[in-house]
Amino acid sequence: MKSSGSGHTGLQSTDLLAKRLNALLADYEIYYQNLRGFHWNISGDRFFELHAKFEEWFNDALVKIDEVAERILALDRVPLHTFSDFIENADIEEVRDILPGEECIVLTLEYLRGIVQKQREIVSLAQEMEDEGTQDLLTPYINQQEKLLWMLRAYLGKEDQSGRSAGSHGNRRTVRTKETGRKAAFPVGEDAGGSEDEADETEESEDGERSEASMSRNTGQRKEGSGTRKNRREAVTEESTR
Ligand SMILES: [Fe+2]
Repeated sequence: MKSSGSGHTGLQSTDLLAKRLNALLADYEIYYQNLRGFHWNISGDRFFELHAKFEEWFNDALVKIDEVAERILALDRVPLHTFSDFIENADIEEVRDILPGEECIVLTLEYLRGIVQKQREIVSLAQEMEDEGTQDLLTPYINQQEKLLWMLRAYLGKEDQSGRSAGSHGNRRTVRTKETGRKAAFPVGEDAGGSEDEADETEESEDGERSEASMSRNTGQRKEGSGTRKNRREAVTEESTR
């Protein structure tokens, strides 16, 4: 393994790589616990289907958590291991409230998009450093999660057909952000690694209205503490420029 092409020494590059892996580990830990909460608290006519799926996904995350932590140890660095450090370093926020099933799926999709993007960036850094071990660990994750992202988008597309035709308008869904309660849209019909700019846009589309209506049908509330720090930052920026 050698230093990255950015002028860092080998030790500095390893420090940087371990730091990125620790940020990924923190995301996985919060992702894992949020999915546990979804699994426990889900209710409604899709209970059996979603209860089982969230268990499958958090068990998968548990394996990855251990592998990522042990990769950090293989790099002779220390993995984060406390809840406070996970919360501090994760981009994914804890979900404190009980959410309707569709919203849990929307959040899962959003979390996975962020995790896949973070893994791509780490693989790119590992390529510069000729660190095959990290590349070999994370590349199959990306492959597997891109497939799951497709399935989640398809699942949400199926939901569209129960309301309006999914093909009659733009493929965007909306989630409310923590501080502002305003909508932050992200694409559900495009590649999992879509640009961050796409997530900035707020859209008052027919689809957005339908999604909002669908969510308010279920509980009429949203749910402080969900979403990602990235969305929260974007919402705050958006608010401050008005
Ligand atoms: Fe269980």
